[in-house]
Amino acid sequence: MIDFLGDWKRTSYCGELRAEHIGQDVVLMGWVSKRRDHGGLIFVDLRDRDGIAQVVFDPERNADAHGKAEGARNEYVLAIKGTVAARPEGTVNPKMKTGEIEVLVKECKLLNPSKALPFTLDGFVDVNENIRLKYRYLDLRTGQLQQNLILRSKVAQLTRQYLTDNGFLELETPFLTKSTPEGARDFLVPSRINKGEFYALPQSPQLFKQILMVSGFDRYFQIVRCFRDEDLRADRQPEFTQIDCEMSFIDREDIITVMEGLMARIFTEARGVKVELPIQRMTYQEAIRRFGVDNPDLRFGLELVELSDIVKNSGFKVFADVVNGGGIVKGMNVKGAGSMSRKEIDDLTEFAKIYGAKGLAYVKMTAEGWQSPIAKFFTPEEIATMDKAFDAQEGDLLLFVADKPKVVNDSLGKLRNHLAAKMGLTDPNEYRFVWITDFPLLEWDEEEKRWAAVHHPFTAPMDEDLQYVESDPGRCRAKAYDLVLNGNEIGGGSIRIHQEEVQSLMFKMLGLSEESARGKFGFLLDALEYGTPPHGGIAFGLDRLMMLITGSDSIRDVIAFPKTQKGACLMSEAPSGVDTLQLRDLGIRLAVKQ
Ligand code: AMO
Ligand code: AMP
Repeated sequence: MIDFLGDWKRTSYCGELRAEHIGQDVVLMGWVSKRRDHGGLIFVDLRDRDGIAQVVFDPERNADAHGKAEGARNEYVLAIKGTVAARPEGTVNPKMKTGEIEVLVKECKLLNPSKALPFTLDGFVDVNENIRLKYRYLDLRTGQLQQNLILRSKVAQLTRQYLTDNGFLELETPFLTKSTPEGARDFLVPSRINKGEFYALPQSPQLFKQILMVSGFDRYFQIVRCFRDEDLRADRQPEFTQIDCEMSFIDREDIITVMEGLMARIFTEARGVKVELPIQRMTYQEAIRRFGVDNPDLRFGLELVELSDIVKNSGFKVFADVVNGGGIVKGMNVKGAGSMSRKEIDDLTEFAKIYGAKGLAYVKMTAEGWQSPIAKFFTPEEIATMDKAFDAQEGDLLLFVADKPKVVNDSLGKLRNHLAAKMGLTDPNEYRFVWITDFPLLEWDEEEKRWAAVHHPFTAPMDEDLQYVESDPGRCRAKAYDLVLNGNEIGGGSIRIHQEEVQSLMFKMLGLSEESARGKFGFLLDALEYGTPPHGGIAFGLDRLMMLITGSDSIRDVIAFPKTQKGACLMSEAPSGVDTLQLRDLGIRLAVKQ
């Protein structure tokens, strides 16, 4: 028998009751988190989003309410009226926020029962993630996920406040739009009214926010969903949220200053962490040279050392041939790891091979010097020079990769992170920010045999490099910057091209004919000719930011309804087939059977 809410009004959240409320009458509403029947008294842990209160049913006080508690099971929804009382001596629970009090129930309504749960909500048991995603609404009742989303709401609020205080306007841009390339595939939406035509969901609001600058809005922001059809990983979802910003009449320094302030504000207020300003900067060149990647985790050392010059005339053909063929040799000194087993080193080799390395040469530093399959190929002088470059000492492990620069940096850079995780070199409570600047403008895409934009096609080249865009594209640096936190790219942006001729040149460099550039981006090229101010901006990945703030392993843990690796929502079962009738309406015939 289910009760109606009637005229009952909640007076408090379960988690907010303290000793100071003793003697007050309260109305609580929530879920049965736990129930203990002492054959007489029944104790229920009643839970809502704020926490848990112990409520006590005594048959002598109200037999009907006690009867309801007797029938209640986990996750039944109850409302109770009662009086806050001090817990009897010896039953105070200092681990609970509400551990000093309990509520003596005078009346109870059973608002809804619950079926037996597919998994317990105590948060300790390892339940298959797919089951948890199918019953996401239950998983979201558990403390950690609920806290993550509550904090996410707070961060969104802080962001709105900070940016509004700094003169930014919150403006919306369309979802049904034309392709906005950010390097992924588009999600397409067929148009019923214009059969055979499609909208693209935006990979970001990039073009629209630039056009808002053309219109004179000066400072824009939006906390906005972006859609990218790309391979998913722990830090990537097909739809994710950006804190997206754009400013006019500014340079890189203005953007960096405002945005550092935003990060400092968020980390202080949401995480209690003070961010030292200004945030450290590093050029892209330096990041690749020292860490192999453009998103270095600076919480630990393990820096890469270049050895090409030392080994290029050595007797180790593998290294010498690579260097003489235009490649490089780099290595790293894993301090104190000289006792690693053969098996462990083989595992590291397999790991490096994922990133294209053909092998992973190693040296164990012993009291007798180099213990290594490659020791015999080097002269004592070469060995001494390398020892010095590595600052190698007894007990260390030296690792080497020889290959094209990209493979060497990629494999050693990833191996560096892998080793740090394996050896526990990172402190999860430390937050190391770094701005990476001076990215290359273009990179050669070997598969497509054309130049591709490193950030996006709307990013401006450095003034002094503009002259080389056509003659020596690889040497041009971009006015682009990324913010990296503990090895994660949490934001990226740039100063934009604001002159039509430069934008047209850029499209040409990317292999777009004038016709296809106009077809895809005609509206931007047009707008650029009507008085476009110098402008630039940045976008932060809110999900990644929240993952780091909450210390989660995956961005799925900070998104209410995330998708699986295969892009599926297991709760709603999207994506799914559609009616033939619906398809006919859209003028679509499928080449694959549903
Ligand atoms: P960018 O493509 O670098 O820049 O994206 C900005 C930030 O968004 C986050 N991000 C993602 N988070 C989760 N899942 C994904 N699939 C995903 N892809 C990106 C990252 C990234 O740093 N329009 C430009 C910004 C600009 O130039 O102003 C842009 O979208 O944290
Ligand atoms: P080999 O002479 O091929 O038996 O290789 C000797 C050692 O060098 C082995 O430990 C290999 O893993 C390693 N090795 C081979 N090729 C490379 C390479 N390109 N870079 C680094 N180490 C390599």
